[in-house]
Amino acid sequence: MQAAEFHKLTVSSVEAITEESVRVTFKVPDGLEAAFTHVPGQHVIVRATIGGEMVRRSYSICSRAGSGSLQVGIKRLPGGVFSSFANTELKKGDVIEVTRPTGEFTVAIDPGNRRHHIAIVAGSGITPVLSMIESVLADEPESRFTLVFGNKDGRSVMFLDDLGRLKNHNPGRFALFNILSRESNAMPMFEGRLDEDKLVQLFTTVVDAASATDWYLCGPAGMVEAARSVLARGGVPPEKVNDELFYAGGDAPPRVAVDDEVGSTIKVTIGGRTSNLVIDPDGAPILDHVLAVRPEAPFSCRSGACASCRAQVTEGEVRMDKNWSLERSEVAAGQILTCQSHPVSDTVELTYDV
Ligand code: FES
Repeated sequence: MQAAEFHKLTVSSVEAITEESVRVTFKVPDGLEAAFTHVPGQHVIVRATIGGEMVRRSYSICSRAGSGSLQVGIKRLPGGVFSSFANTELKKGDVIEVTRPTGEFTVAIDPGNRRHHIAIVAGSGITPVLSMIESVLADEPESRFTLVFGNKDGRSVMFLDDLGRLKNHNPGRFALFNILSRESNAMPMFEGRLDEDKLVQLFTTVVDAASATDWYLCGPAGMVEAARSVLARGGVPPEKVNDELFYAGGDAPPRVAVDDEVGSTIKVTIGGRTSNLVIDPDGAPILDHVLAVRPEAPFSCRSGACASCRAQVTEGEVRMDKNWSLERSEVAAGQILTCQSHPVSDTVELTYDV
């Protein structure tokens, strides 16, 4: 992950989609249309100074690929600095710094494909999946899409109108199952959380899981893990399951050194330029130390969920607190999330140029 390059984009609209979420549309400057072309499921990193502090976050693109529109969905999170700002202060005409789209939670659209895509989604995890659904229905005419969508109650369902429109315009090609955890339904099957029991119940009754060709999981860790486990037990090959964690939650790891953490000399390369730093075992992740000398180092969520801070260890050893976003094979190959990593050898060499 190389250093993120930010472009200044003007906000062309901010539209409330629930009481706690907005759809933000950016105007892409002339000449940058190709750079901001996205694959359905990708995200951008946004950056703004809020309350005197530079804040970065990643937000998924909800607009259809090829629509020429760059839209993101932002749900207000408890204590969320950027999400609160976007939901209360951001307005048309404001300028925000935005990176070009990135991310591997995607669907490759092929008009010749005949597939049945199924997404299991909770809360704001719908944002990248809305782009996938719009794109599949528009550009893969022989394919269909099923969405199993968990929310607290009807008022918290993001993009409800968009999903209703897609359902009405694509009879037989788009199936939508809303599951609400805090609202009763005449059919109890559609009440409750998206846990293992609920998913098994849905897959053995109303959801045509047997014909699925591609699976997408997007939501909090508990939901993604429950769905992974049900699909694995059902014999779905792991390469057919694409997942992304939304709002990993949990507190930041404590900023105290643990026993295996050592003072270390770190050699870090970003954009072909190498810096040396000597760090004490103070519990701060490698990313914090790198940012002190190389502020262009990429990062976004700081919670292990987005992989924006990915780097390759070329010498030495580190330990990660959490990893919600790297594949096992990537970790085995020496990739790390620098926001979660601490040195456990005297010297560590790493590069962000991967
Ligand atoms: S910044 Fe998101 S995983 Fe490290």
